[in-house]
Amino acid sequence: MRQIIYTSVQTPELGEGGVFEIIQTSVRNNAANELRGFLIYSGQSFFQVLEGPDDAVSTIFETISKDPRHMNIEVLRDQPVQKTHFERWAMQRIAVQSGDDWVASLGAFEGPVREAGILPFVGKFLGSSSAKAA
Ligand SMILES: Cc1cc2nc3c(=O)[nH]c(=O)nc-3n(C[C@H](O)[C@H](O)[C@H](O)COP(=O)(O)O)c2cc1C
Repeated sequence: MRQIIYTSVQTPELGEGGVFEIIQTSVRNNAANELRGFLIYSGQSFFQVLEGPDDAVSTIFETISKDPRHMNIEVLRDQPVQKTHFERWAMQRIAVQSGDDWVASLGAFEGPVREAGILPFVGKFLGSSSAKAA
């Protein structure tokens, strides 16, 4: 199994309802390919964690990389993992608040995100994305 964490920046192509469409498509495709993870959209930027079988992660990441709805893809971590940390989520959008309460706003994801060592990455992302949005 492989885990990829990346950030990117939306383009005008994203349009209204674009994030919703991405989630809908992702839930369908990811469930069929044993892919799991979550997506945070904040300050016009994306933060995504993808976990699953090596081949499935490579294939979907290649597709995602070519998607005109975002740009400036920056891989923060790409590593083998023993198991997925996000079993219940084929792809879930997490609405994370920037500010002091951001850890609490992860809700049901707080445990898995912490366990997977992703908390510092989310914190850094929220810091920079909210700074950009301000
Ligand atoms: C930020 C971002 C994240 C995405 N994440 C996924 C994903 O996890 N799974 C997925 O199938 N497509 C994802 N997509 C969409 C893909 O780029 C692509 O449009 C989609 O897989 C095509 O699916 P379809 O052939 O079923 O229409 C994402 C797109 C963006 C911009």
